[in-house]
Amino acid sequence: MLTVVSLLLALFAVSSAQQQLQQPNFTHHAVLDPNGKFRLNWSPATNGSGYFTFECVVATRGWIGLGFSTNGAMAAADMVIAWVDASGRPQISDRHGPAQGNGFPPADSKQDYELVSGRKNNTHTVITFRRKQDTCDPQDWKITSDTTRLIWAYNDQVPTSADDIPKHTERGVQSAQLVNPQTKDGMATILADPSTKIYDLRLTNVKLPTDKRTLYWCEIIELPNWNKHHVIANKMMVQKGNERYVHHLVMYGCGEEDMSEYLGKPNACFDDMEVFNPMHKCSDYRAVWAVGGEDFVYPSNMGSPIFGNSKQRFVLLEMHYDNPDLKPGISDSSAFRLYLTEKLRPVETGRLTIGQGVSPVAIAIPPKQQRFTTYVYCPGKCTSRMTEPINVFTGLLHTHLLGEFSC
Ligand SMILES: *[C@@H]1O[C@H](CO)[C@@H](O)[C@H](O)[C@H]1NC(C)=O
Ligand SMILES: *[C@@H]1O[C@H](CO)[C@@H](O)[C@H](O)[C@H]1NC(C)=O
Ligand SMILES: *[C@@H]1O[C@H](CO)[C@@H](O)[C@H](O)[C@H]1NC(C)=O
Repeated sequence: MLTVVSLLLALFAVSSAQQQLQQPNFTHHAVLDPNGKFRLNWSPATNGSGYFTFECVVATRGWIGLGFSTNGAMAAADMVIAWVDASGRPQISDRHGPAQGNGFPPADSKQDYELVSGRKNNTHTVITFRRKQDTCDPQDWKITSDTTRLIWAYNDQVPTSADDIPKHTERGVQSAQLVNPQTKDGMATILADPSTKIYDLRLTNVKLPTDKRTLYWCEIIELPNWNKHHVIANKMMVQKGNERYVHHLVMYGCGEEDMSEYLGKPNACFDDMEVFNPMHKCSDYRAVWAVGGEDFVYPSNMGSPIFGNSKQRFVLLEMHYDNPDLKPGISDSSAFRLYLTEKLRPVETGRLTIGQGVSPVAIAIPPKQQRFTTYVYCPGKCTSRMTEPINVFTGLLHTHLLGEFSC
């Protein structure tokens, strides 16, 4: 009897020590697929070591793959494939996509992904690995604060070696911000406060077209006649199952324009280059969300005023849908949730948009240029019109598909 008890105690101590070793407290979490089968936890290189630690928790007993790329394509992506082999030993292989197109990803000549731990049970494989933020290997991805397209894949078959990895059976792409802090703690505080209110801006039953891949859908919404509040956070609530189609959403303020004639008349925003009329009048970016974006939480002393101004009654929602496979029968009722407080915060925020509009004449590149640079400034003539000093607390780049970042 005594023997059994001490044996149990010993087992318990061993497994809890393993827990601590194998499960560092990850600060970042994302679910990469719509069904919750591929989960990723990670911690950025915050302790000065330069190492990012990742943990993949995947509903398979075969191999799992994670890739990093700018555009979600396999070509030239940085990839890592890992599995627990037939004898229970975790294996990892640093690889990269073919120079062009899809195909078997060759192993890197320099292996920069280090296995931390790996295990599997009857349903899941859990692999933890680490890598330098910048491995200085041209076959690897340098992790930056930009949005990264994470490519994920798996196959239930266990490879016999790194030279014998069967093709994926499941794959997908998800955007993530690997470096920036996630805002879940700030959100938890807001949710726990009983004085927090919510206001949802919802699109209803938008039918995705089957003859074109991209749809920008616009709807004017009349704000309720409430007392002044501060917006203190916002959250995108994508209709379940539509994660792959919902691409971005912008909420524009319409200033003091009377938009009542457009109520109940949602429409495509750009119809054969003819811009949905309200877009000319509503150009104040009040809130935005795009694929890979997190909840947006204002600093705890700041809020963005809303309601309480009977002249500023309308907002425009602009939703970007992407249906590359032209799948029929998709309809969407996603919503944008604003978290509000009536306990107005000391600092009120506003928005400033600077940049170059996109139109055929705005960026006119003369023919036969090897390279063409265009600059956009907010010079003294512009800043001198500001009536008080401005403190910038957040920023957003907006380039549609024209933007690329360079290292
Ligand atoms: C993880 O979190 C627990 C509880 O918050 C803490 O006691 C522990 O020290 C943390 N471990 C690491 C490695 O930071
Ligand atoms: C920093 O984190 C890395 C990766 O998790 C770890 O290997 C290293 O020991 C840590 N260094 C310190 C000083 O905590
Ligand atoms: C198997 O592992 C996964 C991932 O860690 C876990 O969620 C699940 O509960 C485990 N299943 C069993 C039966 O322990």
